[in-house]
Order: sequence, then C-alpha cells, then structure tokens
Amino acid sequence: MSFEGKVVIVTGAAQGIGRGVAEAFAEAGAYVVLSDSNEEQGAATAASIRQEGRNAMFIPCDVRLETEIQQLMKQAADEFGAIDILINNAGVSRWKSPYELSLSEWDDILNTNVRSVFLASREAAGYMKQRGGGAIVNMASTRAIMSEPNTEAYAASKGAIVALTHALAISLGQDGIRVNCVSPGWIETGNYDALRPADHEQHPVGRVGYPGDIARACMYLTHPDNTFVTGTQLIVDGGMTRKMIYEE
Ligand code: NAI
Repeated sequence: MSFEGKVVIVTGAAQGIGRGVAEAFAEAGAYVVLSDSNEEQGAATAASIRQEGRNAMFIPCDVRLETEIQQLMKQAADEFGAIDILINNAGVSRWKSPYELSLSEWDDILNTNVRSVFLASREAAGYMKQRGGGAIVNMASTRAIMSEPNTEAYAASKGAIVALTHALAISLGQDGIRVNCVSPGWIETGNYDALRPADHEQHPVGRVGYPGDIARACMYLTHPDNTFVTGTQLIVDGGMTRKMIYEE
C-alpha cells in the first residue's frame, strides 16, 4: 500500500505500537511526524527512521495539554503544507482497585487517553478540511468491550474512544474526513521471543500480536482507496474476543 507524499502524524510514537505504525507509514512513502511526551526517545526513533532513508521528523507534545496539541498540528501543517492522516495512539494503561483509584488518577487517565483524541482530532480536522479531507484512526482497545479487574479508568477511556470515533465520523464526513478506530488485543511491544508457548496458544490464531499487525490495520483504514469505511471499530486481537471460555 503506497502512502507516497502523504503527511501522517502519529502520537505516542516514541516506542511500542506508535513506533511500529510510524515506521510502516514511512516505509510506504509518507512524511511521518512522530510525536511523544518522551522527547529523547521520540527524537531517537525519528532519527532511526531517517537513517533508513525515510522521511520522519519529531515534534514533542504532551497530549494532555491543549496548547501543545495545537502547536503540534500547526508546526506539522507549516512544515508540510498539509495534514492528511492522524493516528491518535498515545495512551497510558494503569491498573488500580476502584476502591482506591483517586479522582486525580481517574482524570489523568481519561485526559491522556480520550480527551486527547478529541482535541487532536479537532485541531487536525481544521487543516484536513482546508484541503478537502483526510483520515483519522484512534487507538482503542478490546478492553472497551471486555475487562479484567481493576481497569475501570482505562476501560472507560477506551469505550469512550469507540463512541467518539463514530460521533466524529458523522460530524466530519461532510468535510471528507473519515474517522475509524482500531481495538488491539495483546500486542507485544517488548521482547516477543520471551513469550511463553501458553501466551501464543491461548489465541485462536496461535500467536500473540506485534505492532505490525496494528500498523497494517491503520493503513487499511486510512488508505485513500477505502473511502467507504468510516465510524467503524476494527478489532485486531487474534480472535480472543470471539473465544468462549469455560473452565473444564
Ligand atoms: P507504550 O507505553 O509502549 O507506548 C505509549 C507511548 O505513548 C509512549 O511512547 C509514551 O511516552 C507515550 N505517551 C504516554 N503518555 C503521553 C502523553 N501524555 N503525551 C504524549 N505521549 C504520551 O504503549 P503501547 O502498548 O505501544 O500502546 C499504544 C496504544 O495502544 C495505547 O493507546 C494503548 O492503550 C493501546 N493498546 C495497546 C495494547 C497492547 O497490547 N500493547 C492493547 C490495546 C490497546
């Protein structure tokens, strides 16, 4: 899939899934703007993509802060004259008992994971509209629809992303902007080789996911040919949320 000449912004791109998404778009010919609150790691990741002969730059941004999001979009649009694609990937996962989760911890997780998606989409959409359209992908999670204990704030943030995705798709469709989300299952961003056989075998497809699985989903959802796809949630989880589990 070619993204030759497209301007793609990826938040939370210093490491993990965001890094994999940025690398994949860069390899497909895009101008990739990597953004992250971790400036050192983000700049190093962008430099390593450039070393492969691809187009990548780093702009720091803490997605909890409206002014930094506005600055990110402005700087990217000034540099490239356009924003074609936004991947709202930055997020934090923190588990804590609902008996102990404080108001400030709740607010911080919601502000990082979901308020940021609204603010970044609002700011990027302004630039996309000027050029006749664009595409946005929000990183949700299968935890939007299933839970382990002590994940209230994270689950709520991801469920909100799924709802925000279809709301934005309807509001922005008239401006040629498509909005979709990806719900990853278990995506190993650390040492894949250290996973146990049981980690892989519990998945219907027989393996744990890796960032490339999510990068390809983002490319499908944002490709200029796929203009009939908007407002949807693409679950990429090796079948885990379709597996019925009863203990024998
Ligand atoms: P990660 O922790 O490896 O990377 C997240 C990146 O976001 C880091 O580079 C971090 O510095 C950045 N970040 C954190 N707070 C930020 C802020 N306030 N402003 C800007 N950047 C910030 O996480 P991972 O696993 O790569 O996850 C990426 C996204 O995918 C997240 O939204 C996560 O919720 C979602 N996800 C991940 C899954 C997995 O199994 N790895 C499963 C389902 C969803």
